[in-house]
Formats: sequence, structure tokens, C-alpha cells
Amino acid sequence: MELPSLDRRDMLKVWLLGAAAVALPFQASLTAKSASRISSRKLPKPYTLPFAVPPVLPKAYEDATTDYYVVRQQAFVGRILPGVDTPLFGYNGTVPGPTIKATHGRRTVVRQINELPDQHPSLGYVPWTSTHLHGMPSEPQYDGYAGDNSQPGQWKDYHYPNNCEARTLWYHDHGVHHTAENVYMGLAAQYHLTDAVEQALPIPKGQYDVPLMLGDASFAESGALLWDDHSHSGHYGDVILVNGVPWPTMKVTQRKYRFRVLNASVARGYKLKLSNGQPFQVIATDGGLMSAPQSVTQITVGMAERYEIVIDFAAIKPGQKIQLVNLGVKNAIDYDHTGKIMQFEVTADPFDPDNNLVPAALAPAHSAMLLTPAQAKVKRYMRVERTNGLWTINGQTWDDVEKGDFNPIFANPQPGDVEMWEIENKSGGWFHPVHIHFVDFQVVSRNGKPPRPEEKGPKDVVYVGEGEKVRVLMRFSKPGGYHGRYMIHCHNLSHEDHDMMTQFQIGAHDVDCDPVKTAPPKYGNPPVWS
Ligand code: C2O
Ligand code: CU
Ligand code: CU
Repeated sequence: MELPSLDRRDMLKVWLLGAAAVALPFQASLTAKSASRISSRKLPKPYTLPFAVPPVLPKAYEDATTDYYVVRQQAFVGRILPGVDTPLFGYNGTVPGPTIKATHGRRTVVRQINELPDQHPSLGYVPWTSTHLHGMPSEPQYDGYAGDNSQPGQWKDYHYPNNCEARTLWYHDHGVHHTAENVYMGLAAQYHLTDAVEQALPIPKGQYDVPLMLGDASFAESGALLWDDHSHSGHYGDVILVNGVPWPTMKVTQRKYRFRVLNASVARGYKLKLSNGQPFQVIATDGGLMSAPQSVTQITVGMAERYEIVIDFAAIKPGQKIQLVNLGVKNAIDYDHTGKIMQFEVTADPFDPDNNLVPAALAPAHSAMLLTPAQAKVKRYMRVERTNGLWTINGQTWDDVEKGDFNPIFANPQPGDVEMWEIENKSGGWFHPVHIHFVDFQVVSRNGKPPRPEEKGPKDVVYVGEGEKVRVLMRFSKPGGYHGRYMIHCHNLSHEDHDMMTQFQIGAHDVDCDPVKTAPPKYGNPPVWS
């Protein structure tokens, strides 16, 4: 096993405790059987609980151009483990939150009301929130900027243009320094954007189009969620959740299903595979449909990555069961059952035979996939690493951005510019799924070689593995399009919070697009839509 590189703080521990002592806890935790302190009798056996899908959020109001939604961020006591009460934070009291369904060309306004308590029940911090719609090219003031925090008692209307291609997005908390805990507590949900191209395809739809939000949790003796971020390296739970249910079993019929896989874990990466080794097809990535499906037997899913996959159960005999398993990735702490995700039980039930295809040509190539490196006006280099106990990007942290009154920027492309960024992770000890807000990019190369098959579609998060160098290519907005400041960060939420985050600026920064000042959250009762 390659040992993680030691930073100064770790070196201090070595000095204080001796090398053997510091190596031990890390190795011990790598082979630990469980993280939860609750009696193991209270943990369900894998594949014994029924699969569930998050509810769809009903519209609160609509007019000629826009759909309006209301989301209340609330603390509540829910049940993840059967018969065990677990304090959670949820959007409208569900974990995961309700799915929002949006249509290209119709705008949405989502009113986020922070009704959380003044303090987190066990960690004691103030749960301010900032809601990011991950995957949407929003204006800066509605992008869930880390400094644009709604305090408990405040609300804010987020406006979304829905002007991009059909895709699986997700909305999640982005409150500065507590994103990890807030998302872990439940502030995450899917958002599906559809368009005419997607609707015309004969791919699985309706009940055969299924969200799969992956998470991992561990539980204290009381049933509360246990939080241990291993000195800001990340939280790793021993219970795998799919749409909030531990290792569920889903009954399926003998046809194709489309699964919208989203890794909503704080720090765990997954390598997914079917237990029978059966191939499946990747049809869409973060930024929407691929032009052609990719047939694979496994995919690696870093935090915040979305992969839409189609699994065909047609050849599996009724009564048979197959499992979606996790082969694991380097530097995620594995426990006894983290290699299991969920089970499919094939039934002989009748099914709708329509939309049961994956055509060889899915969609016209996404504009990001048509870019060539020669179009890049600038090439930039980004180094992600741990320095002096802090997670940094080119040696900088979000704290540096805040100290500079939000003025420091990593790049300043003009609207319409194409740039190529090389992101390098020299460490052997960590992987970093790097997310660039606002854009869809093409993964040009991974260590000088072509990207993995599942990455051959538009992306907004790229898995920068141990010792890896990844190049991404993107166009920033368009002339006359949105301008302003957007975040770049590692989507290991503990890394993001401490403090592996910076920003770039498209064109000019103005009063009309200041992420903090233009549309600040408010106290009091929101007006009623009519
Ligand atoms: Cu999914 Cu800046 O986040
Ligand atoms: Cu994002
Ligand atoms: Cu990271």
C-alpha cells in the first residue's frame, strides 16, 4: 500500500508519537469492519429493505414562462435504519430531498427557506445554507456561492434559466465550511431537466427512469448520524445508502431500465459493477446525453459525478437476483459491507414494452465535445494538494479569496473564450473530484491517454486520481452571455470546506452579478406568488 504523503501537521504527529503510531490508525481504519457505534443488530442486513425513489416536488405556482417551487430546509427525526430515530436535515422533510422536474425553455424559481435550528443538534455550528443547482449555468447570484449564506430564518429565491441540454442535475447545500455536514445530514436532491432531443429518444422513461443517489453513513449509539472527517480528509460511512435506504432490493421486470447514478457521498468514490459481470450502457454524463452510448462492465464514480446508465434485465430469469457492487477506489475507507450497493430482483411481472431501446446515436454532439485543444486561447495549470494541513489549489484556499474581499480569481476568460486546464494531483494519498461551476467541459486526457469510456461525454466534475494529470477543455459562456464569478473546488466536501476552493471570473464582475450582494437572502415572510 502506498502511504499518503505527510504534510507538516502530520509530520508533527510523527514526531510526537513516533512513525509506527501514526501509521497505525490509518491502516487500522483501512481494515476496520465498521464505523458505526450503534449495535450491529440494529443495522439491516444488506438487500433486505425495499428500494424507494424520492418524491417529485409539486409546483407551487406557474405562469407563462416559469415554474415556481418552494423548498423548506428543516430539521426532523427520520428513519434510515428500521426502528431507529435519526435526526436529519432535509428539503421539505425528506432525505434525499424531492426531485424537481424542469423543462428546457421554461424557467424555474426555487424558493429556499432556511427553517433549520440555530445550531446543529450535535455539532453545534450554525447551519447557514447556500443552495447550489449543480449542473446549471446559473447567474452568479443564484449559483449557491459559498459566501451567499442564508441564516436560519432567512429565505431566498433562486432563478434558473434551464437553457442547457437535458441532464441530471442535483441541488445541494454549499454553505461555507459546513457543506459536508449539511449534505451528510440530508440537504441534497436530484433535478431532472428534459428537452425535445431526450424526449424523442426511445430510451426508458417514466417508471423505468430511476434516480440512484448514492451515499454512505455511520451511526452513533443513539441512532444519530456519526460524523468523523478524519482531520478534514473526509467522512466514510459503513452503511451504503441508495436514495436514503441502506442496501435496498429493487424489483425489476425483464426489460431495460435507465438509472441516474449520482454519487452524493461526502468523500467516498465508487467503482460500480454488476455481480454477474454483465455489461451496461452509459448514455449520459454530468452535462447530458453522450452522442453514442458506451458499453462498459464498470464505471468509476467520484463525488458529484452523474452517470446515466441503462441496465437490461431481459435475459435474466424471473426469480434471479443480481447485485450492483462496489469494487472500491483507492483511499476511500472500506468497511465490511461497503462493497455492496443494492440488489435487483427480476420478476415475471408484465411490463410496458415501449421505450426499451438504446439507439446507437443518442444526441447531436454536445458543444463541449466538439471543441479541439487548438481552439484554446489559454492553457492553465492547476495543482491540487495538501499543504500545511490545508487543502489547496495552486497553494491558495477559499480563505484567501475571502480575505481578498472575494476579488482573487484563478482565471478571467472573456465570454466565448475556450481554455484548456491541466489539473494535477501529485499526491499518492488522496483523490480529488474537481468541479468547475457554470461550464460543461470535455475531458481531453487522463495522464496523456484518452479518458475512460464513461467520461466521453460532457462533464462538470473530473476525478483527479492519485498521481494523475487530467486535461479539460471548455468554453466560457458566449458573447453577451452571463458574466461574473464562479467557484472551482474539490467535491470531497471535507476538502471543499477546508478549503480547497477558488473561483474564476467570466468577463467583468459587476453590481448586477455580485454573488453575495446582488440578490441577498432576506428575513421575514416571502411574498405570495400570484
Ligand atoms: Cu456540487 Cu460547487 O458543487
Ligand atoms: Cu456545481
Ligand atoms: Cu479533494
